Amino acid sequence: MSPFAHVIGWGMAVPEKVLTNDDLAQIVETNDEWIVSRTGIRQRHVAEKGETTATLATRAAAEALAMTDLEPPDIDLVVVATSTPEHLFPATACLVQDALGADRAGAFDLSAACSGFIFALNMAAQSIRTGSIRSALVIGSETLTRLINWEDRGTCVLFGDGAGAFVLQASERPGGVLGAVMRSDGSGGEALSVPAGGSRYPATAETVERKMHTIHMNGGEVFRFATRVMAAATREAAARSGLRLADISLIVPHQANLRIIEAAARGLHMPMDKFMVNIGDYGNTSTASIPIAVCEAVRDGRIRPGDNVIMVGFGAGLTWGALALQWVETAKRVTPARRRRRTVLVGLAHVRSFFRRLWRRIEGVLWGGRGRPTI
Ligand code: ACO
Repeated sequence: MSPFAHVIGWGMAVPEKVLTNDDLAQIVETNDEWIVSRTGIRQRHVAEKGETTATLATRAAAEALAMTDLEPPDIDLVVVATSTPEHLFPATACLVQDALGADRAGAFDLSAACSGFIFALNMAAQSIRTGSIRSALVIGSETLTRLINWEDRGTCVLFGDGAGAFVLQASERPGGVLGAVMRSDGSGGEALSVPAGGSRYPATAETVERKMHTIHMNGGEVFRFATRVMAAATREAAARSGLRLADISLIVPHQANLRIIEAAARGLHMPMDKFMVNIGDYGNTSTASIPIAVCEAVRDGRIRPGDNVIMVGFGAGLTWGALALQWVETAKRVTPARRRRRTVLVGLAHVRSFFRRLWRRIEGVLWGGRGRPTI
């Protein structure tokens, strides 16, 4: 039994391509002034051909791992929280596990929309704290722009692509994940969904025609729900962790709308400088928004060793949650040598994966099957 679960590495990845509000104004009837004043978003990153939820997740995870002494085979668990998985199955986490060469890890996806990273971090930390595993990769990764209806100005201005990852490890030293709250209310599921593509509405010409494979949202309803739950969840996570609000150095909220974050600050009677905000650069990247914001907060010196941090989010489901964490400095600096080593390890994982696939095909032929993969 290891009583503490520490974050020992962190990393992020975003596509290079940027879409500004002015770019969007060329596509739908909108403008920079409306988007900035109603949401705080100035630009978002958009995945290009060849970039997917799994490739972004793998990049973020490799960067996080490079900060640690762990090699991919040391990882016991890979969890990818995502609303835009690579496929219905196999799980995106399995693709990441294979790409990294995390040979001994169990891997699965977690679906709780934008609350997913908090839920996944809590689940992985609890597995560590019970002693059933010693290390985990927790990733939030999205290519939401692939599910956008570019004719719907109410949603297409909001979302962006990206990934963030934490490496968690068991420790005897106090700190790390302190406590969390996870909540859901399925009665609000219709407020935000991608209706088709699952078992309820399998893909047909009609579902495509009616754009049922894209994001449908009742913005006002989601806004009201979010402003109700953010402050309450933050208070509850703090109380469960034995913290007073005055003990919290920084709150890292899900980056969905600046006005929602401002409402949470008012609800908690805390100044905005206690909140990490980077929505202007990325838009809403769903499960990736909190780990990306943490990476930038650490980079900018806004999270330091010993700091108590609360991450809080909400999303489709409806789901919401918050997690309190004491930051513990254990990560190494990513030197060029470590970066090269990471590249070599990921390269070796690709070679190993290639030979495993080849062997499966040979096995298939030997056993009389066609041995041809479908994806
Ligand atoms: N550009 C210009 N005008 C627009 C745009 C746009 N992009 N979008 C809507 N409008 C118009 C509307 O048509 C409306 O015009 P009307 O008054 O003539 O009918 C007007 O602006 C006001 O529209 P509202 O929807 O009332 O605008 P609001 O201030 O509520 O902002 C928004 C809309 C930004 C979507 C807001 O409701 C919101 O942020 N909701 C929460 C969304 C959210 O967080 N979703 C993610 C959840 S996390 C997850 O699980 C993925």
